[in-house]
Amino acid sequence: MKAVILVGGLGTRLRPLSINTPKSMMPVVNIPFIEYVIRRLQGIGIKEIILAISHLAEPIKKYFGDGSRFGICINYTVEETALGTAGAVKNAEQYLGYESFVILNGDIFTDLDLSTMVSMHIQRRAKITIALTPVVDPIHYGLIETDIKDRVMRFLEKPSREQITTNMINAGTYIMEPEVLNSIPKQKMFSFEREVFPPLLQKGEPIYAFPSSSYWMDIGTPQKYHQLNRDLLNGQSNQFSFNNDSHILIGKNATLHNTVEITDSAVIGNNCSIGQNVKLNGAVIIGANSIIGAGAKIEDSIIWRNTNIASEATIRHSIIANNCYIGKRSSILRTVISNNVSISAGRRLKPDSSIWPDTYLDKN
Ligand code: GDD
Ligand code: MG
Repeated sequence: MKAVILVGGLGTRLRPLSINTPKSMMPVVNIPFIEYVIRRLQGIGIKEIILAISHLAEPIKKYFGDGSRFGICINYTVEETALGTAGAVKNAEQYLGYESFVILNGDIFTDLDLSTMVSMHIQRRAKITIALTPVVDPIHYGLIETDIKDRVMRFLEKPSREQITTNMINAGTYIMEPEVLNSIPKQKMFSFEREVFPPLLQKGEPIYAFPSSSYWMDIGTPQKYHQLNRDLLNGQSNQFSFNNDSHILIGKNATLHNTVEITDSAVIGNNCSIGQNVKLNGAVIIGANSIIGAGAKIEDSIIWRNTNIASEATIRHSIIANNCYIGKRSSILRTVISNNVSISAGRRLKPDSSIWPDTYLDKN
């Protein structure tokens, strides 16, 4: 069986992190987000993946190459202009052949049992099977109503508050029969959710749901991206574990001064240097080659690669991207800082800020 991963969208709501890092390459516990998706597919025996990309293709191609490093064959399609969810899969038709295939939204992290979903799809002779997940507030998603046998009865994409009838949403994983591609025009912007699923349902095609309460998170916003990282450190998904009781993972050639205090859980990347009396609280993730100066305090935060946090800085509930410099004694609270940002010594950022790439902030 083959799988298409939809790697598109501008990631507007993930700005400023997504401005020069594609959403799919954002590090989740120091590993590109989409690597988890690819490893999960490889783990259930999928041999070939198509990454349907609509923009910022180069960093993705460079990292994954032909897939051999991950034990899987990867092909790429790159759209000249975004073709929408269905248009992107139609664009990958040449790689798909005549068997059922899997489609995955490329911004979802889930432990969904895909093998059972495939078996159910075959057993029910479904044309399309759609994974469902319960969410607390379904308003930003596609709602799906089903009957007691899980046959889909109605689609309600991004409803208004009064229209909400269920908390079960389209979880962004589909199994499909190849005939579905016949209802999608070539090289045209086209959406599964709005232009393919509802008309096929009206025609009476067998569309089934596969409800699941497995771990599920979409990385639509910096807050959700942060929550996903926290959840993994807290053991909520079976795709990450510390394999030790200390809840600390330290990369190759990383050095920690013997006075470093780690209260909860920490993942520290390769070649990092963590200085004297540094305190790490809550879930802390530090990417490769980063330096944390003496006396710095980091709480519940994510730091990407090649970033330098100078001594006695305080970073709380924040995300700091690649190649940043955070000056001595500066203070950062609930802030999202994009790549290549430099903050001078003693600066106290206004909480809840977002800092765009390539910014220099002098002392306030
Ligand atoms: N290649 C390509 N080209 N991919 C695209 C394009 C495109 O033009 N447009 C969107 N995608 C990819 C996105 O990158 C994402 O991985 C997936 O398709 C879904 O698009 P989103 O833009 O993230 O949609 P959404 O989150 O608003 O809603 C979708 O996902 C929800 C679950 O998170 C819908 O499928 C909802 O029904 C669903 O509930
Ligand atoms: Mg999405």
